[in-house]
Amino acid sequence: MNKEVISLKEVKNFQTRSEEFFPLNWYEEMLNHTPVYFHEETDTWHVFKYEDVQQVLSNYEFFTTEGSRTAISVGANNKEGTAPDKVNLVSVDPPQHRKKRSLFAAAFTPRSLKNWEPRIQRIVTELVEDIQEDSTVDIVQALAGPLPSMVIAELFGVPLKDQSQFKHWVDILFQPYDEENEEEIEQRKQTAAKEYYQYLYPIVVQKRSNPSEDIISDLIRVEVDGETFTDDEIVRSSMLLLGAGVETTSHALANTFYSLLYDDPSLYEELRNDLDLVPNAVEEMLRYRFQISKRDRTVKQDNDLLGPDLKEGDVVVAWMSAANMDKDMFDDPFSLNIHRSNNKKHLTFGKGPHFCLGAPLARLELTFALKTFLQRFSRIEPVESFDLEKSLTESAPGQSLTHLPIKVYK
Ligand code: HEM
Repeated sequence: MNKEVISLKEVKNFQTRSEEFFPLNWYEEMLNHTPVYFHEETDTWHVFKYEDVQQVLSNYEFFTTEGSRTAISVGANNKEGTAPDKVNLVSVDPPQHRKKRSLFAAAFTPRSLKNWEPRIQRIVTELVEDIQEDSTVDIVQALAGPLPSMVIAELFGVPLKDQSQFKHWVDILFQPYDEENEEEIEQRKQTAAKEYYQYLYPIVVQKRSNPSEDIISDLIRVEVDGETFTDDEIVRSSMLLLGAGVETTSHALANTFYSLLYDDPSLYEELRNDLDLVPNAVEEMLRYRFQISKRDRTVKQDNDLLGPDLKEGDVVVAWMSAANMDKDMFDDPFSLNIHRSNNKKHLTFGKGPHFCLGAPLARLELTFALKTFLQRFSRIEPVESFDLEKSLTESAPGQSLTHLPIKVYK
């Protein structure tokens, strides 16, 4: 990774992990008092209002992803850990972005999604059925953690039993850099990227002569304006999908259960009595409790679109989670309301040309997981001894749950 990582801890030094996990008070304060804010020490702008965040993420004429600094850094610095130029869609603006994205989009068509549905449902059912009735289960270990990596393993067409390795590699690639042991962390990341590469490369070679119904085979077949992927490019671009799709979806699911236990315990029964409410509940959870709270862009040309004068080269951090709490967009934004009619307008999947390519897949996983769980268990309860502070860990995009014990009843 060649971008300089901006230390957001200097911008807001949360006193506890729990506070960073759900910084509602800070969002409220920033939205009300300093919605556009310049932080001198890190030389960065910060925006919180819905309109502004949307503008920064989508107006690529003025705000580029091609800058040299970033607030979130995932991956490793070696060849195996970086996306090849041809597919590096995350750090390039339209019009070049279009072609790179189309190469990937070939693997994410609505038709592929339809084909994947039964495969995803099978994995969900297996995991939920493995949870014992009338017991206490750690839902992060039992469902939220393994599900997305099993789904990715299935969709890549690699053995499901290897998902724990996938999870292990992703966890390392998502570790935040820490000034004190930066080199050690980088070493660990490079090793993980190399191991992943060595694992997947022979599989890609084998699939080239024997393609099947999976994402790797789709990437082997895809051709856009005469361009195709080499084996090396497929392995390295698949890592982008792994990075983008595993950690994020795990957190969304873990946070959903956290919300059902602690934000509004009456929701569980309501949802169980009407499973048709689940898709909207999923959207509300994505709006209300999400962990990739921000993305960044660099000013491409001087402008005052956010109010103050911004100069070419300035970095702007767009706080999507705060924008999801903007009262000008969402009524009574600090309350969790699964009946909200516009909650799909949340910015959790971003906005504009870089809008999350995997959003339909993530929505499918979250909906299937929640529905299947609701069908199997009549009631859930928190465990009294649960200590949120001790159950969080820092990852590149924010704090995430490592454990969440739940009592489950038939
Ligand atoms: C709840 C789960 C997820 C969340 C919250 C999420 C969030 C995001 C966000 C915010 C962006 C936009 C970044 C930006 O504008 O700079 C993004 C982009 C992306 N996501 Fe997701 N994501 C999720 C799941 C997935 C899954 C399951 C996949 C695929 C396996 C995926 C693949 C991608 C890709 C490839 C991009 C880059 C798109 C581009 O730059 O054009 N994501 N995601």
